[in-house]
Amino acid sequence: MRVSQAIEKRISCRAFSSKCVSLSQIKTILEKATRSPSGGNLQPWHLFAVSGNALKNLLIEVEQELKLFPKGHTAEYPVYPKELAEPYKGRRFKCGEDLYSILNIGREQKEKRKEQFAKNFKLFDAPVGLFVFIDRNMGPPQWSDVGMYLQNIFLLAKEYGLDTCALESWAVFHELVQKHVSAPRNLMLFCGIAMGYMDNNNRINTLRTERASIAEIADFIGF
Ligand SMILES: Cc1cc2nc3c(=O)[nH]c(=O)nc-3n(C[C@H](O)[C@H](O)[C@H](O)COP(=O)(O)O)c2cc1C
Repeated sequence: MRVSQAIEKRISCRAFSSKCVSLSQIKTILEKATRSPSGGNLQPWHLFAVSGNALKNLLIEVEQELKLFPKGHTAEYPVYPKELAEPYKGRRFKCGEDLYSILNIGREQKEKRKEQFAKNFKLFDAPVGLFVFIDRNMGPPQWSDVGMYLQNIFLLAKEYGLDTCALESWAVFHELVQKHVSAPRNLMLFCGIAMGYMDNNNRINTLRTERASIAEIADFIGF
């Protein structure tokens, strides 16, 4: 698969089939993703791959906790700026509305929206959860390094027939993840990644999010 095809075909998958993913598949992807670039070659990421009963136990505890704290606990970092200005606010709104409209869930159907959102915390039924951490001493440049690492995982997964969804929603359950994977305290959870085989019969996976044109996001000078 060409890089451009992998980029074109990758989407955030929000419904997975029950087909298993083997440890060797995960290791192949992670092995290749080690080639991700990072400033000073710090490689400031650490990842925990969780599956089977270990994942089941984590999901059960998160489900229980969601009943007590429907919005989760407090995230360790601001997932979005407090005041999201345009054009970002509009883009975020549109992406949410497009998703709910595919599912025929209207604005007033708050319960249904909540139920759909809760699927984040079931990893959309993916058989594998990857939990990506960064050393908490790191700053913005290293967070961007982690982003490159994530994208390489997403594209490699695509090459190997797998799909993914990044899940920063999991930031609100960082303590539970930390506890279940025994992550050292110097690490901070950035996000989860659901990984598995796409359920092609689920409408949610027909969502194709919009992008700003290059005229909007780039200027060309001196050509
Ligand atoms: C770091 C990161 C975290 C994300 N967290 C979530 C999440 O918690 N839940 C979710 O449904 N999608 C999440 N997404 C997916 C974005 O909504 C998605 O990438 C965006 O809308 C573009 O759509 P696409 O990935 O299908 O191209 C996340 C994406 C990134 C890069």
